[in-house]
Amino acid sequence: MRNTIVAGNWKMNASKDAVKSLVNGILSGMGDVSAEVLVCAPFPYLSQVETLISGSSLMLGAQNLNVNVSGAFTGEVSAEMIKDFGAKHVIVGHSERRSLYGETSEIVAKKTKAAIDSGLTPLLCIGESLDQRESGNTEAVISEQLTTVVRLIGIEAFKNIIIAYEPVWAIGTGMTATPEQAQAVHMFIRNLLASSNQDIAEKTPILYGGSMNAGNALELISCPDIDGGLIGGAALKAEDFLQICKAVNMTFQIILVVHVLLALGLVGLILIQHGKGADAGAAFGSGAAGSVFGARGAHSFLYKLTAILAICFFVTSISLAYFASNERSVADSGQSIMSQTVMSDDAFDEDTSEIPSN
Ligand code: 13P
Repeated sequence: MRNTIVAGNWKMNASKDAVKSLVNGILSGMGDVSAEVLVCAPFPYLSQVETLISGSSLMLGAQNLNVNVSGAFTGEVSAEMIKDFGAKHVIVGHSERRSLYGETSEIVAKKTKAAIDSGLTPLLCIGESLDQRESGNTEAVISEQLTTVVRLIGIEAFKNIIIAYEPVWAIGTGMTATPEQAQAVHMFIRNLLASSNQDIAEKTPILYGGSMNAGNALELISCPDIDGGLIGGAALKAEDFLQICKAVNMTFQIILVVHVLLALGLVGLILIQHGKGADAGAAFGSGAAGSVFGARGAHSFLYKLTAILAICFFVTSISLAYFASNERSVADSGQSIMSQTVMSDDAFDEDTSEIPSN
């Protein structure tokens, strides 16, 4: 089972005061978040965020990198420099960099390689424009963007990559992809990876990005191939960002309710079969089921139903165990989050825990 990851992309929105309020706001609500959470800050603020998140489970990422290790590249920043500030992740191939700064799939592939070579985890963004979707080219575009990277660095490198599917038409527009649209592309991406390596395909996290917010995060993240979100606008306000992070907790509650219902159903079925034996059909009322299935038919129907419920119960048990272990690791780091929050308490102003976007 894959971890849920929620990443904030602040883009070019920050100031020292706003970063302090936003990060402290996020930290104050992280105690009961079971997702892995990171924020991708503009370069000048990496150092400040590194200090603020020290000792907490919140992670830091950058938004871009140069493919070279060092040298005469005025204005550029290398993977090693990013790592120097405690960042573990870096966004590559964001559609804004592809469209505004001419980054081709080949350049994105080289940046992905540079990140991996230095030990950073790239968040590899791929996605189609509205024109490309409307002309039926979504899969061709995704395929080209992804296979260019696979060709350069090989499928094995995807053990250390997070993919973010960001339909360009959904970014900053308020036009979120429906869960069905997003799930269809996520499944396509996973199948594409699976054509090279099934195991890596199953383990690679694929996040959705594009107008994800507190209101739509749960239904998107609940889709089987959507493993979290890359959030732009809604990552600039601590409260909104935290609500998205907690969507995974809601998933836990839904699974818990289903689990309890399955348990009650199983107990009921076992009691019916135990009490009535082969005449269990009578349990459906005045022998109605018996006449449909016959006594043997009803028996085998109940037997099959019990088996199906037992399998579902097993699956929800495993899911709950997974969530519980995740909760525990978050709780372990919660201690340090709390102490850090207390340390910087006087600096924390809840009303300003946001960065205004332009
Ligand atoms: P919005 O959430 O503002 O649409 O931005 C998404 C994005 O580009 C994240 O990288």
